[in-house]
Amino acid sequence: MSLHKIILDCDPGHDDAMAILLALGTPTIELLAITTVVGNQTLEKVTHNAQAILELVGAKQIPIAAGCPRPLVRAIQNAAEVHGISGLDGTHLPEPTMPLDKRHAVDLIIDTLKAHPPKTVTLVPIGGLTNIALTVRKAPEIVELVKEVVLMGGGYHTGNQSAVAEFNIAIDPEAAHIVFNEKWPITMIGLDLTHQAKPNDQIMTDIANLKTPISQFVIESLNYYTEGYRKRNGYSDHAPVHDPCAVAYVINPSLIETRIAPVNIELQGTLTTGMTVTDFRATPAENCHTQVAIKLDNPQLWAMFIDALKYLDK
Ligand code: BDR
Ligand code: CA
Repeated sequence: MSLHKIILDCDPGHDDAMAILLALGTPTIELLAITTVVGNQTLEKVTHNAQAILELVGAKQIPIAAGCPRPLVRAIQNAAEVHGISGLDGTHLPEPTMPLDKRHAVDLIIDTLKAHPPKTVTLVPIGGLTNIALTVRKAPEIVELVKEVVLMGGGYHTGNQSAVAEFNIAIDPEAAHIVFNEKWPITMIGLDLTHQAKPNDQIMTDIANLKTPISQFVIESLNYYTEGYRKRNGYSDHAPVHDPCAVAYVINPSLIETRIAPVNIELQGTLTTGMTVTDFRATPAENCHTQVAIKLDNPQLWAMFIDALKYLDK
């Protein structure tokens, strides 16, 4: 079985929680470390949430380190209206018992990358890019060590934090600018893709029928998350579950169609700051290092997710 080694940089968050479960429940993924960053909620809260999820699953051996408590330049913006005051409102999780790694997230990422052969570890950021930007500034040599960066963020035709900017990029556009301008391979799993990642009633029933503490957590989480989307956006559908799509792409890239195109981050616009400006005009240069996700095999995503939940129950 081919192993994909990953470091997950996250801000749990309901959909981050699903991404962590997908990673932990997929035997071809080796989750080397979890790092946390301010985003959906304060650093303290999202770190506690990440620890609590590991506690629920019994995966206390995974190192977990806290990172940046605020964006590089801008004031903190959170997503309490999506994820609640705790970051995981609506759910019941055990109190974490395992200690945090004493290192800063940036140092845990650097140490982990240097402990593995070059180009064997994929970075999977599913929150703001503050930690990853600081990592690359502290240790620029890691750009050559990373296999690829598969991130959830951005969108080439729509936003959610503004008309054109997605939350993870909008909360720290300077960090995103640093990350997108390093010459490592980047796959941007943006809103164009993740808005296709919706469960349906049958999928929710299939998850509920697993009747495990983990599946119960998933149902509580997705119900709260969908309820909020319905109230805010007038949805009748289930809410799109963004972050697991990045993990799914690492597990099986054939689930997600991509297109190579240059991407850069708008830092100046009065209406467009945080936009991931994607240039589809011409054939991309041969050395173009960015690609954007376009089309998702949604049934396969959920089949993969349910398999992971079953695996976690073994
Ligand atoms: C992203 O924003 C956060 O609220 C989610 O966790 C996801 O990473 C979607 O725009
Ligand atoms: Ca997230």
